Amino acid sequence: MEESCRLGRRSESRRDDDCHGSKQSNIVSLRTGVLSSWFRTKDIGGPRADTGLHRCLTTMDLIFLGIGGIIGAGIFVLTGIAAARDAGPAIILSFLISGLACTFTALSYAELAAAVGGSGSAYGYAYAGLGEIVAWTVGWDLVLEYGVATAAVAIGWSGYVNNALAAVGLHLPLAFTKVNIYAVAAWVLAMIHHPIPAAIARHAATGGFMNVPAAAIILVLSLVLAAGVRQSAALNGLMVVVKLAVIGLFIAVAAFHVTPGNWHPFMPFGWPGVMRGAALIFFAYIGFDAVSTAAEETRDPRHSLPIGIIVSLLVCTVIYILVSGLLTSIVPYFTLDTASPVAQSMLDLGHPLVALLIGVGAIVGLTSVMLVLFYGLTRIFLAMARDGLLPSSFAAVHARTRTPVRVILICGVVMALIAGLTPIDYVAELVNIGTLAAFTIVCAGVIVLRYTKPDLPRPFRAPGSPVVPVLGMGFCLYLMTNLPLVTWIRFVVWFVIGLAIYLAYGRSHSRLAAK
Ligand code: ALA
Repeated sequence: MEESCRLGRRSESRRDDDCHGSKQSNIVSLRTGVLSSWFRTKDIGGPRADTGLHRCLTTMDLIFLGIGGIIGAGIFVLTGIAAARDAGPAIILSFLISGLACTFTALSYAELAAAVGGSGSAYGYAYAGLGEIVAWTVGWDLVLEYGVATAAVAIGWSGYVNNALAAVGLHLPLAFTKVNIYAVAAWVLAMIHHPIPAAIARHAATGGFMNVPAAAIILVLSLVLAAGVRQSAALNGLMVVVKLAVIGLFIAVAAFHVTPGNWHPFMPFGWPGVMRGAALIFFAYIGFDAVSTAAEETRDPRHSLPIGIIVSLLVCTVIYILVSGLLTSIVPYFTLDTASPVAQSMLDLGHPLVALLIGVGAIVGLTSVMLVLFYGLTRIFLAMARDGLLPSSFAAVHARTRTPVRVILICGVVMALIAGLTPIDYVAELVNIGTLAAFTIVCAGVIVLRYTKPDLPRPFRAPGSPVVPVLGMGFCLYLMTNLPLVTWIRFVVWFVIGLAIYLAYGRSHSRLAAK
């Protein structure tokens, strides 16, 4: 057309118009093309599609998977910090509010998991209903949720194990149990024969180059996950029994020490404190969503997924409300700002044996959280690789173990390096914001799919739709607004990195692009 526009002079003005018009329509179609590629959606394979993974998990396995992923650092560590610094005894309200946000979201998850299925969970639902770019963003958020949370929990786990070993007289060398960023910087400067600034030298004195236990536990869990989903579920089940027993013991002992005076003042930091607490301890609920990544390994996903997601969340919500209520009523809330508030409260009340058992329960609990979140991460990666948004060589499933061994080992090594070499133990809020964003999109997905695919068979329907998904979105967005500015900045940086990867790789390698 450009060529024909250059020919002839007589009808120049008309041709100019034509030329201009065609340029505009080219731009419009280019824009439409880019937009349609960003918002292209995937067909729904259905929850029973055969993908080579081992379909062996039962409803009970899924409930245990949920509890295994949920109860961990949130209740054993963050409750004390949130009570002491943000909410006071009103932490029980923070748990209630976060629990409500998760209940509305869980109902939405249950509907989509049973109707859409797929190991990609929220990523897959977004791909079916909202388009590729949204799906990629959700997948990228889930990588933040599961990957960063696993590495961060591994660092907390390492701290607990070190304390337990020190209690029996076994002191591991500091240089290999903790990462001190100053010591690493001093080491690097020394290697390049650069003078070490006094401030760095002073902080570096306490050593700490690598967190070996944190890296080691992730590598061990990689082997468990690679061995098979049946084996992983069995180990998880055992760990869940142990942590539930320990929590039961705490509840039984604490019930005899309730001191109503500790609940005055009930809301020392006012309503804003309760909301800040809710946004922080939201971390405690993360994990129920990982159940949905087991869709391709569940015997009867349409029946089991909704039950697994909802029952595990409800059990944990009741446990959290009981534990947080008791914890703040047996000791003053301001004494809880410690690394192990639940065990510490028992020590304060003169029960060292119970404190010891709670320490063991916390170690086991954190292990199951890592196992389940790591499991979820690998299944999300698998789904993204199958769709071409990540290298498709990741999508291989081992013929004997019927697990995605390659993805498991790659994720395991990367997370072990992160846990072993970086001090990222304070990232709960970053994990929360990524998860809340993904939850918001899942709730939106329920509403969109109800309109765009009204005839899709839905074995479970979120009751009261669209009220329930809208409430889920509202709660999640409101919790996000209560997170600190620095968390938002980190989240935007994460989002921009993800977008760059999508534009550089995913958009052109997507299977839908080939179609
Ligand atoms: N909910 C999980 C925990 O509290 C992530 O550790």
